[in-house]
Amino acid sequence: MDLFVVRGSTPLSGEITVAGAKNVALKAFVTALLTDSEVTLGNIPHIGDVVAMGEVIKSLGATVDITSHTARIHTPKKLVSRVPLELGARLRASSLVVGPLLARVGNAMIPNPGGCRIGARPIDRHIQGLIRMGAHIRYHSEDGYFHAQAPDGLHGVTFEFPKNTHTGTETLILAAVLAEGTTVLKNAAEEVEIDDLIGLLSAMGAHIRRSGAREITIDGVPSLHGARYSIAPDRNEEVTFAIAAAITNGSVVVHASQPKALDAFMTPVLAAGGGIQMIDAHTTRYFRKRALVAGDIMTAPYPGFMTDWQAPWAVLMTQARGVSTVHETVFESRFSYVQELQKMGAKIAFYDPAVTNPEAFYNFNWGDRVNGHHQGIRITGPTTLHNAILDITDLRAGATLLLAALVAEGESFVHGVAHVDRGYEHIEDRLRALGAHIKRIKEGDI
Ligand code: EPU
Repeated sequence: MDLFVVRGSTPLSGEITVAGAKNVALKAFVTALLTDSEVTLGNIPHIGDVVAMGEVIKSLGATVDITSHTARIHTPKKLVSRVPLELGARLRASSLVVGPLLARVGNAMIPNPGGCRIGARPIDRHIQGLIRMGAHIRYHSEDGYFHAQAPDGLHGVTFEFPKNTHTGTETLILAAVLAEGTTVLKNAAEEVEIDDLIGLLSAMGAHIRRSGAREITIDGVPSLHGARYSIAPDRNEEVTFAIAAAITNGSVVVHASQPKALDAFMTPVLAAGGGIQMIDAHTTRYFRKRALVAGDIMTAPYPGFMTDWQAPWAVLMTQARGVSTVHETVFESRFSYVQELQKMGAKIAFYDPAVTNPEAFYNFNWGDRVNGHHQGIRITGPTTLHNAILDITDLRAGATLLLAALVAEGESFVHGVAHVDRGYEHIEDRLRALGAHIKRIKEGDI
């Protein structure tokens, strides 16, 4: 077990290149299971979740060869159809293999998915869609597995998601590309990561298009072929670096930037006093333009302010004058970092935003909410944060606590580094290159 030791209060300056998107790389690995020809993926990030997904598809029979940032994946004609429990529990995206397994083997056993504990995170919407496509699926509580079967294959349908779901949309796309007939997904998610998945599938011979607002049409094909595809950069990483520059009053030039995918982030950052200079289409400089002022945000599916950005945004708001609010509407339990920021002196209080019809309003199922959880926080700033011993509980919370430690006075000790390693490539080396005082040590070496 590693921990980070961070000495804060240094402005971060320099240049950094965003790594490949975790939430594309994981799905791209699963996509390779749809063909027995080789799929070569470029810009693959070196992160824990990619290693874990590599293990998942290897357990099904694939060979995965990663050299530098390129992964070559080859899947045999005969696949194993059961994901080992311990692997499935390591990452939520493991449940995506159900589509390729049903298409190629006719059955699948997938464990109740794991991943960051930021809510109940059920997959009921995925299952509903798969059942409509002809799958028989039962959850067996005695073994903790979903048992899925489609001996005669899946067929195309028109399916409307009851609420937005990012991986649910991807699950049904992956199930539909080899299904008989045409599938129309309505109320489908619009995240840019899904467009990248569509790009990869199209390169493999799939017939798939965004056919309207929140609508995707997939014409099933009998088989897919191999392809070479380079995945897009990770916009969540870019947000982390942008906020690192603004909170430390530094200046960070980000390469492989995707300003078009970050509109919903840039607007409130500019209003709060952040500086953004577009150098060219793929290079953006982030800095602090003036004294930061409070701003309110509410998370929402694309094209809204992403739920993944609210934790780093909250750190920014600890440095802003006034009272700001964060209203989390996508997950019911994504404020685990608040307690840790409070340890550092942040003035943050929970509140319950007024919502007239919570079941219709929130992206999660209202019934999954745990009593005592709140959907809103109020941050009063600016506060001089001080050092603390911090515990990371999920990926984005982890990046957030690193940001807080970078701005805090004194030396902080950040435990639970494995959560950050799941989604950020060599984060400490890259932050150090920007001037951060951060080192990784082994627990017990303090
Ligand atoms: N939900 C259900 N039932 C379902 C599906 C979703 O109740 O069948 C609920 C979820 O529990 C959640 C909400 O609906 O409260 C939205 O879930 P969604 O399916 O959209 O999210 P996800 O697919 O689980 C992905 C990313 C998350 C990112 C969200 C929002 C991956 C592997 N994960 O999660 O990324 O926050 O979409 O865009 O793609 C991360 O990278 O750290 C991360 C958590």
